[in-house]
Amino acid sequence: LNAGQGCAIWVNGEPRPDDLAHVSAHDRGFTLADGLFETMRVREGRVFRLEHHLARLAGGLLALHISMPARIREWVLGAVDAAGLPDASVRLTVTRGVGSSGLAPVACRPTVVIAIGPLPAFPPAIYESGLTAHVASGRRNERAMTVGLKTLAYVDAVAGLLEAQRVGADEALFLDTDGHCSEATASNLFVWTGSLLLTPPVSCGALPGITRATVLELASGLGLDASDRPFSLEQVLEAQEAFLTSSLRGLAPLVRIGGRPIGAGSPGTVTRRLASAYAALVQRECGS
Ligand SMILES: Cc1ncc(COP(=O)(O)O)c(C=O)c1O
Repeated sequence: LNAGQGCAIWVNGEPRPDDLAHVSAHDRGFTLADGLFETMRVREGRVFRLEHHLARLAGGLLALHISMPARIREWVLGAVDAAGLPDASVRLTVTRGVGSSGLAPVACRPTVVIAIGPLPAFPPAIYESGLTAHVASGRRNERAMTVGLKTLAYVDAVAGLLEAQRVGADEALFLDTDGHCSEATASNLFVWTGSLLLTPPVSCGALPGITRATVLELASGLGLDASDRPFSLEQVLEAQEAFLTSSLRGLAPLVRIGGRPIGAGSPGTVTRRLASAYAALVQRECGS
């Protein structure tokens, strides 16, 4: 696969030129999306919450009977050091490896690809005026075999984004098959009701996001009542504030869904308080 995006690439611990082929055409990650990935944020040369990302990855690999590559932490740390970027994104992909044709998961050696590049340039408007979302026509399947795992299969999310783009929205919001809110294409959803901070549980098809867990931790430190429990789209539209969370984007206010404003239709004070508490925490944990 040719990346060619100005990233530093390592395959199974070995550095590779960015513009050359890296992975076999028979790799099950490529042919079947049979693998998992983590996207992590580097700040001041350190990966924020690396242990949390590796624990989520290890849990997912165990569920899929893919062995956790023994030297993975060492490879990530070595790659981040060698890349020498103070602020960066790290994509860590682990596939089942190169398999024979067919689906049967025969034992193979996992493929580990680490790609380190500059952080995507998010327009400041994301934080200043907030994001808009379209409600995706398809659903997140909270009963899927792989619910809660960060698998390589993101085509549903891409289709959701295509739909959002067609109606001029920034994001697509997925409901689960029961009609509860689940999450956005690659971020978790939070709402502030005025007295309670809510985020959908994993049983509604949401990924157990590392940023989500961090925000729940910060909320309790700020004296905000917070809970992961199911809620409807109507409840989001009646909420005072909403925001999306992910490792790279941090906290991004969500101000409209399907053209209808949430609260005042602009980023709210609780979102801002949590966003600055989050930025301070990243700085504290990664700073020297
Ligand atoms: C589907 C999905 N949900 C939520 C998230 C947010 O997770 P994290 O905070 O661990 O980046 C992501 C991250 O890419 C994602 O792909």
